[in-house]
Amino acid sequence: MKEYKRYTITTALPYANGPIHIGHLAGVYIPADIYVRYLRKMGRDVLFIGGSDEHGVPITIKARQQNISPQDIVDKYHGIIKKSFEDLGISFDVYSRTSLPIHHETASAFFTKLHNEDKLTQMESEQYYDEDAKQFLADRYITGTCPHCGYEKAYGDQCEKCGTSLSANDLIEPRSALSGNIPVKKATSHWFLPLDQYETWLKEWIIEGHKEWKTNVYGQCKSWLDQGLHPRAVTRDLDWGVNVPLPDSDGKVLYVWFDAPIGYISASRDWAQQTGKSWEEYWKSDDSRLIHFIGKDNIVFHCIIFPSMLKAEGSYILPENVPANEFLNLEGDKISTSRNWAVWLHEYLEDFPGKQDVLRYVLTANAPETKDNDFTWKDFQARNNNELAAIFGNFVNRTMVLTHKYFEGKVPVNTLPAELDDILKEIGLLNEKISHSIEHFRFREALAFFMDIARLGNKYLTEKEPWKVFPNDPEAVKGILNNALQITANLAVLSEIFLPETARKLKAMLNMGNTDWSNAGKSILVENHPLNQPQILFEKVEDTDVQKQVEKLEQSKKDNLASAASFEPLKPDVAFDDFAKVDLRVGKILEAEKVAKTKKLMKLSVDLGFEVRTIVSGVSEYFTPEQLIGKKVVVVANLGKRDIKGIESNGMILYAENADGTLLLVSPVDEAMSGGLVK
Ligand code: 2FM
Ligand code: ZN
Repeated sequence: MKEYKRYTITTALPYANGPIHIGHLAGVYIPADIYVRYLRKMGRDVLFIGGSDEHGVPITIKARQQNISPQDIVDKYHGIIKKSFEDLGISFDVYSRTSLPIHHETASAFFTKLHNEDKLTQMESEQYYDEDAKQFLADRYITGTCPHCGYEKAYGDQCEKCGTSLSANDLIEPRSALSGNIPVKKATSHWFLPLDQYETWLKEWIIEGHKEWKTNVYGQCKSWLDQGLHPRAVTRDLDWGVNVPLPDSDGKVLYVWFDAPIGYISASRDWAQQTGKSWEEYWKSDDSRLIHFIGKDNIVFHCIIFPSMLKAEGSYILPENVPANEFLNLEGDKISTSRNWAVWLHEYLEDFPGKQDVLRYVLTANAPETKDNDFTWKDFQARNNNELAAIFGNFVNRTMVLTHKYFEGKVPVNTLPAELDDILKEIGLLNEKISHSIEHFRFREALAFFMDIARLGNKYLTEKEPWKVFPNDPEAVKGILNNALQITANLAVLSEIFLPETARKLKAMLNMGNTDWSNAGKSILVENHPLNQPQILFEKVEDTDVQKQVEKLEQSKKDNLASAASFEPLKPDVAFDDFAKVDLRVGKILEAEKVAKTKKLMKLSVDLGFEVRTIVSGVSEYFTPEQLIGKKVVVVANLGKRDIKGIESNGMILYAENADGTLLLVSPVDEAMSGGLVK
């Protein structure tokens, strides 16, 4: 394996339009922090980079809604995010932000270099324009009817009802979100990165060269590359972002996904300015190892687009690994900022003061490394009470209390050196496993091995029962407690990687200085070394504590229902003759199957009495095929045929919608004839 001199570790720059939640932490920041703490402990040279992503359309929309400037929005959230990371102990060397001048300069220079070397192409296209607001409309600023599910408030980039990614041109009856007007098409010119030109290279670099990447990451890259790459626009018509550094480009900025990853480089320059150190070797030297920690929604940007940008620029190293995680759900539901379905870090830190490490522990033990996982408050409580407190905390506490009771808080002489040898051998093996797991980005596994050391200690004390032995054989107890203390000291060393606050407390109790990895697996505390008073490492989490959190979430659910239940306004009257044109029929669903490679679509075969039709319906989220087969439904029969994902769909099925967005079948109450009119 290649030897690296230094490590450049980046974490996805969170958008500064909302606080950090547990999904971000489990997916990106905690694994990255464990990795970095481990590297530092091994004596490696690391630059650990974070920062806020302060551009992009959603920030401008939020600012507009609140009638303040985008800068006000990002100032507010950058502050909240930065502080909450600090309070959790995420050990960034720098936490920068993309609205800083140094970032604008860096991103500008990057673009200029590509432009000057003809690495970008300019193309003209027609985009929606709002003549009242006098501006081009980003896809998010356009709403209209979703061509897939008929939802009338779909955004130009995505339908939030059926989840389909859209482009504004797909929308039926588009409207400007700025003025409500019908937008017009107007020609505009943009700069593109010709990704197609990097396809062959990317295939070689990833498909051949990085087979060791995590399966989820490798698989996503392969699927993108198999589908073929196309030029991607790297500029936008917008007034918030890094200005396009070319003449005649007023009102144009770099696309946020072009400038954000360059933010890693500007953050490094920011760090270099603050510390007087050099940043370039972390980015331009072959013996530096660049690793991006991200969530799965960022894979294409970090594995395909940013590497192509770096390759085009020519002077930077490429990421050596991109260990992206899957998503963390909360109590069985997708985490959602807009529905306030989240555990917010800054609120957690307020509600559970001093319990940073419990969150770190739970989110690592349950990290979505290979598949989506679920966070529940019950599991949080159980892991704290049954693992951290009952095993780790209990072991340390018993060891400390007994040493104070029997030996005045001084490390006793080791009268059982053979036992110590066995114990240290076992710890040594676990250390190697921890190391191996971390080097391969398997942090849950590493944490489990770490806890095995605490388990080993707890079991040792329970079996040796020094409290029973002491009256008859105090000499033996000296050995037992010396051994238990060496295990505790080893835990203190390794805790620094996973549970830094616990490590601090443990080291204070043990009166230990700094210890690097080379101490691990050794006898650390010398005879007669004085210890400090014990303190409880992990308090129990009470039922009332988690109950409060569950109630908070229930309140979010109620709020959502209440806001969803504000009834849709009535549509304008229609003439009876117009209504009568709609041909509604009773149908019976004969067959139902999910459409492959889609999340929402279900292909139905529906008997209308006089014929059997294929109808594609966006309801897979609400029904299984079994729940639909055999049911009578109401069909709009004269809509004409439409192609949906390559299937010819002939008709539409009607559903009723609940306040929470769930769909219900609309069915005749009594047995009705298939093909019968609904009128
Ligand atoms: O998905 C996000 O939250 C983006 N703000 C991540 C950007 S990562 C990097 F490119 F800065
Ligand atoms: Zn839709």
